[in-house]
Amino acid sequence: MPKHFARRMKPAIAITARMIGVVMSGPLILDEVRAAAPWMDTSLPANQRANLLLSQMTLDEKIAMVHGFSGPCVGNGTNNARLGIPALHLQDGPAGVADGVQGVTALPAPILLAATWDLILARQYGTIIGVEDRGKGIHVSLGPMINLVRVPQGGRSFETFGEDPFLSRAMAAEHIRGIQSQQVIAGAKHFVCNDQETWRGNETTYVDERTLHEIYFPPFLAAVRAGVGSITAAYNGVNHYWSSESPLLGTKLKVMFGFKGFIDCDWGANFAMELAVNNGLDLEMPYDTRFSSPLQTAIQSNIIAVSQLDDMVRRIFLPMFQFGIFDNPPTGSITDIVTTPAHAQFAYQTALKGIVLLKNSNNLLPLNTNSVHSIAVCGSVAFSHPIWVGGGSAQVYLPYYDDPLSEISNRAGAAISITYDQGDSGGSITQAAKAAQMADVAIVCVGEQTGEGTDRSSLSLPSDQDSLVSAVAAANPRTIVVLYEGAGTLMPWNDQVAAALVAWYPGQENGRPLASILFGDANPSGKLPVTFPASAEQVPANTPAQFPGTNLQVFYSEGLLMGYRWYDSWGIEPLYPFGHGLSYTTFTYSNLNVGPVSSSGQVTITCDVSNSGSRSGAEIAQLYLRFPAAVGEPPRQLKGFKKVLLSPGASSHLTFNLDWEDLAYWDANAHCWTVPTGIFRIMIGASSRDIRLNGLFNVTSRIPSSAVANCALFQAATASSILGSNFRAAAATGRASRPGRWAPWWRGG
Ligand code: BGC
Repeated sequence: MPKHFARRMKPAIAITARMIGVVMSGPLILDEVRAAAPWMDTSLPANQRANLLLSQMTLDEKIAMVHGFSGPCVGNGTNNARLGIPALHLQDGPAGVADGVQGVTALPAPILLAATWDLILARQYGTIIGVEDRGKGIHVSLGPMINLVRVPQGGRSFETFGEDPFLSRAMAAEHIRGIQSQQVIAGAKHFVCNDQETWRGNETTYVDERTLHEIYFPPFLAAVRAGVGSITAAYNGVNHYWSSESPLLGTKLKVMFGFKGFIDCDWGANFAMELAVNNGLDLEMPYDTRFSSPLQTAIQSNIIAVSQLDDMVRRIFLPMFQFGIFDNPPTGSITDIVTTPAHAQFAYQTALKGIVLLKNSNNLLPLNTNSVHSIAVCGSVAFSHPIWVGGGSAQVYLPYYDDPLSEISNRAGAAISITYDQGDSGGSITQAAKAAQMADVAIVCVGEQTGEGTDRSSLSLPSDQDSLVSAVAAANPRTIVVLYEGAGTLMPWNDQVAAALVAWYPGQENGRPLASILFGDANPSGKLPVTFPASAEQVPANTPAQFPGTNLQVFYSEGLLMGYRWYDSWGIEPLYPFGHGLSYTTFTYSNLNVGPVSSSGQVTITCDVSNSGSRSGAEIAQLYLRFPAAVGEPPRQLKGFKKVLLSPGASSHLTFNLDWEDLAYWDANAHCWTVPTGIFRIMIGASSRDIRLNGLFNVTSRIPSSAVANCALFQAATASSILGSNFRAAAATGRASRPGRWAPWWRGG
């Protein structure tokens, strides 16, 4: 029978008082009511089901939906036995199921995933998180984290996909699709500009409209387009409002981007209740301080319309219906073991593909086991204090300990002698240098474990690690450094060492992938998703007003010139540029072809990449765009990338499709995206500073033609267009006019 027939023939069943009485008497009968409830008709669209359910709810019941309760997860809703609504369980996070639960897979950190530039891996990564969440009875995965590495000091850099909005949005979309393919709601976070930890709960970021649209919004737009079910608002303020009460929630996420799911506040974030409701916050987490009786009172006193509350509840129900939480709820419990050998294998493969080879003088790597008979391994990070995962809400419990020293020893085998020195203080450094001098090769593992809540106090390696590297390198020119970092780090000894790699925070598979790369069982293919500065002064946010801010105000005055855009714009030579990463083979680029620009703004660009070396390897070809000079865009912006695996001598024909959105900049006067006319330059290469092919195209008339314009993006959204007639013009309710910024006004602050 066709679906629409089935739908029409199903009688609508109202919940009767008798049923309600029965249901309240015990969970067994719940199934009966659910079976009879009209909103359980799976042939209806999710929105209609949400409306049907909503129509049966009392004010008390609705209020109970929009704030947190205690429960097994880091965030919990409540169930409603009368109506058969399950309690929503929310758990971190971006690198695997977190918040202290065991029996899970500690995946490599998202920054490492970004270094793979591999969208298939990103999808699988999200899928594994979804599978494990579901196995533990979790409905919402609090990730991915799609803030950007604006400052390499950021304590949560490891949770992000790096400094570039294009790479970040591509990774975010796949991560989200993966999670949600398992009927788990993804929770993109933190909207917006939560790019530092220092004073994150108290500071306000000041950032201009164009920069927001071109740099900090794109990952969130991509998340919405990927169908993300929830978004967490940040702790920090943005342009006069706390993120959780910001008009950006409604005007941008909901109206302009078309987000249909729910927005929750970050855990215990500051916000004023009425402003937050009017501007688009839907769920208070994890507490019940404002979206409980204060909200109820405001509704009863006609300060807030009940339709506002309905919209909040509907938005929570919508992804619950979409992702099967009513129809096919997860049956697992939080203590179940959900990690599997296949997931561990995935962690290994991903870690392998995210390791970045920064330098490799005289092809010291891969190690030649015919000529290397002794290795001096040094550094506490190699054995006594390895770095697996970052700290805070993204910290995942490790199922086992796979340290670098043990795995280097295992892979080296009995024929190669290994020494180990921690090298963490003066005498110990001298000892490490002596051991290095006696060995054929020295491997020094160094790094810093960062986490949520604090930023790095400096971009240098902590304690005596720089001295250790310098001493070892002085003793043995065949020194290899392995960096365990979440973002760019100063490497004052860079010229002294023969080889350097970044292993990031690899997760549970730490030593094995590293040994595979060092000994050449695998060919490195990772590329930097962040810039490594040559000095602390080089970084874009290099004044106290920019970072960490003064008087709790942080000015994003570098504007569009964030990350590599800054270095390129000012002609500053970083230590290692964005997109850089070497291989044990070589690649050549040829045959660039830039097609015509269509009237709707599409350009097809093709080129060939060949493996010109002697072993098979993967190359990540990157396409950068330069806008016509008049519009004041940074000199190079990533607008495409392709990863290809090539055996020696093989070539691949790559196609990049640019769309009008790639050619547009945000016109802050007209408040919309605009494609400028003029000459655009295409640059394709192996990194942002290793451009191999150059081409041009010319935009001569207005793009796109009106027939294909993406209205949502061209529309200049205004505060008053959000949430219909109930919107109380929050933008006009300036926070400055309220008496106490730090205490919610309804508490008399
Ligand atoms: C973090 C979020 C996290 C939440 C729940 C907050 O402190 O900023 O990223 O999802 O806690 O653990």
